[in-house]
Amino acid sequence: MAPLPSLEAASRRTFAIISHPDAGKTTLTEKFLLYAGAVQSAGTVKARSGRRSATSDWMEMEQKRGISISSTVLQFPYRGRTINLLDTPGHRDFSEDTYRVLAAVDAAVMVLDVAKGIEPQTRKLFEVCRDRGIPLLTFLNKLDRPGREPLELLDEISDQLGLIPTPVTWPVGIPGDFRGVVDRRDGSFVRFTKSARGASEAAEEVVDPGEAAQREGGAWEAAQEELALLAASGNDLDVESFLGGVSSPVFVGSALTNFGVRLLLDAVVDLAPAPSPVPDDEGKPRALDAPFAGFVFKIQANMDPAHRDRIAFVRVCSGHFRRGMTVTHAASGKPFATKYASTVFGADRETIEEAFPGDVIGLVNATGLGIGDTLYEADPVRFPRIPSFAPEQFVVARPLDGGRFKQFRRGLAQLDEEGVVQVLRHVDRGDAAPILAAVGPMQFEVFSHRLEHEFGAPVELLGTSYKVARRTDSASAPALARSTGVEVLARADGTLLALFESPAWLARVEQDKPELTLERIIAD
Ligand code: G4P
Repeated sequence: MAPLPSLEAASRRTFAIISHPDAGKTTLTEKFLLYAGAVQSAGTVKARSGRRSATSDWMEMEQKRGISISSTVLQFPYRGRTINLLDTPGHRDFSEDTYRVLAAVDAAVMVLDVAKGIEPQTRKLFEVCRDRGIPLLTFLNKLDRPGREPLELLDEISDQLGLIPTPVTWPVGIPGDFRGVVDRRDGSFVRFTKSARGASEAAEEVVDPGEAAQREGGAWEAAQEELALLAASGNDLDVESFLGGVSSPVFVGSALTNFGVRLLLDAVVDLAPAPSPVPDDEGKPRALDAPFAGFVFKIQANMDPAHRDRIAFVRVCSGHFRRGMTVTHAASGKPFATKYASTVFGADRETIEEAFPGDVIGLVNATGLGIGDTLYEADPVRFPRIPSFAPEQFVVARPLDGGRFKQFRRGLAQLDEEGVVQVLRHVDRGDAAPILAAVGPMQFEVFSHRLEHEFGAPVELLGTSYKVARRTDSASAPALARSTGVEVLARADGTLLALFESPAWLARVEQDKPELTLERIIAD
């Protein structure tokens, strides 16, 4: 009998970890893999200082910088469920990439460094989650070393993010002298013992309160006082408000020493929602048991330098995906063969035979597919487009070698499609000197590196005086183009953007010509 997609979906948990760089996202990812038994010892996902990376950093540049630019999709079984963990780049310059990944998850874990609390990138990513109604679990990390009071961090979450923190586990021992956690759901005390650098699971021992009081002394008493305060505040775990994005269950621990990691992973299984019907572009939910449909949320070229190829990552929204099936590409109406479908675990690829709602498939050599594109079987559907970020940086790109103009154009088109940068073209000037727009300057570095190394077209990037972009339309474009200090350019999808030299100048134009369309672009 054919498997029922809705039944399979019920066992899926598809989520991402978001954090400010250095809060511990990569470490936590490794530890999830360790606790799920997907890796034998931690330290295999990301190179620790000086050590060779095994899994996720495939671009030369990433290795040099020691940052993870490209997102990875990790799939592993845990407690009878299939966990899909979508990795997000931590650096703010790649926020747009993260945003697209968040379009494909059902929940997220927000990691905060207990010494630092909410940092700028945490806030930005949080806003994206709120915007998309993604339920958030919170992990207060690095309790193994001195940090701020966890109670103070709860206040920060509620004051700065407007999210109600509902602590599920609470530390015994202060940051720096962290002994274990009390699970507020049943009052049990889980005591941890360190393993060397957290390479293997931390030994856990459930200790009854009488014995804990004796063994932990003052640390236990202090924890009890805080627990009484929490009980009085009434902020207890509430699944409904968590799913509605109003509250966030809070877990405490240390990814490095593995303390509290299992309880957090269990919460992903027990609290995070399974995939549910995804609304199409008319707002009508696509039933999980409808024929296969999914959307592309990420395109990645040349992940494997040995095979110059291009993978489109597709989040399955409905139905039963079988490798080899022919689906329809909604944007072009053309058939698309899925003979080369794979899962990707870091740089390793495995052929995937089937997938269900919540899963991510990598379609190899997916020429013609763009970010946000829908693929479906039988029953036509189109999912909403993934909105673009408001660019904040603008440069002009020029090929250094006039004889390589063809390669330059080809690279430009591909990197635009992948969303490495946004390519803006002047209606009359075309491709000769396009303006590249990005959220952060590192996107430009990736662009010129790849254009030179993959397409053999070295470029020079020249600064521009533009600082702000607004979306406009063809009715307003001529008047804007006539204004000084404004330029109107088009993206490949036809969207018109007006670029301004300063926010003050934009404000002036808005005031003088209120009839013109100048819309904010999300997340700016
Ligand atoms: P990111 O992906 O969010 O950027 O953070 P990542 O996991 O790479 O962690 C950043 C640094 O914080 C790493 O130290 C990591 O070891 C450390 N770290 C992560 N979780 C914990 C924790 O629970 N406790 C403590 N004390 N440290 C933690 P690094 O010095 O950059 O690398 P390494 O040389 O230690 O490997």
